[in-house]
Amino acid sequence: MGYDAKFRVWRGDLDGGELHDFTVAVNEGEVVLDIIHRLQATQAPDLAVRWNCKAGKCGSCSAEVNGRPRLLCMTRMSTFTEADVITVTPMRTFPVIKDLVTDVSFNYQKAREIPSFTPPADLKPGDYRMKQIDVERSQEFRKCIECFLCQDTCHVVRDHEENKTSFAGPRFLMRIAELEMHPLDVADRRDLAQDEQGLGLCNITKCCTEVCPEHIKITDNALIPMKERVADHKYDPLVWLGNKLFRR
Ligand code: SF4
Ligand code: F3S
Ligand code: FES
Repeated sequence: MGYDAKFRVWRGDLDGGELHDFTVAVNEGEVVLDIIHRLQATQAPDLAVRWNCKAGKCGSCSAEVNGRPRLLCMTRMSTFTEADVITVTPMRTFPVIKDLVTDVSFNYQKAREIPSFTPPADLKPGDYRMKQIDVERSQEFRKCIECFLCQDTCHVVRDHEENKTSFAGPRFLMRIAELEMHPLDVADRRDLAQDEQGLGLCNITKCCTEVCPEHIKITDNALIPMKERVADHKYDPLVWLGNKLFRR
């Protein structure tokens, strides 16, 4: 059964903006992105929204619904009552380009700062062998669709622009952890994680894990094991003594 829903949608650009009220038709089975598209078609033809697959797989339609980081295409209207006012705003952590579209280039910059997979120099293609358990660990992390909702929600950068230079965010700390735990990767990524990409700023609040649409256990399976590896390395008495003696 259809009904008319009340929507508040943020409109503006980097110079400022405000919430606009709309009343818009909703049909059974629709998601928030359907309603935004109907707004474009009927009332606000220049409303900017980024989307692509409408299937929760491209990671483009990230925004905030009632203040919570969400994929617009995976947020069912049936999760709200007909009386609810539904507020749609752009991701808060990234600069707005227009309306619901943000500039997520921070994330591409962080991705570039992580050295790529580094197998042993003498290992030839076809000779790569690894245990199934290691394959499965990487596969979980590789489900990431780069929606950047975890990056958006993490309090370390959400309201702290000044932390952005020194914090890669959960998605990219997870990438470092994936490679650090990869049995065929020979690069040591522990100092990179701790000293350059801000692993120590993560205080395992797990908000990133809560918003991940792929249900990746970012905190438990990537960030905490990475913290353990850093602690073993930095606070191992033999490593400490070696550093004292040989790295003066
Ligand atoms: Fe999105 Fe999850 Fe990937 Fe973060 S880890 S970018 S929330 S899919
Ligand atoms: Fe941020 Fe996730 Fe850590 S939300 S504080 S990266 S557990
Ligand atoms: Fe692709 Fe929503 S449009 S994830």
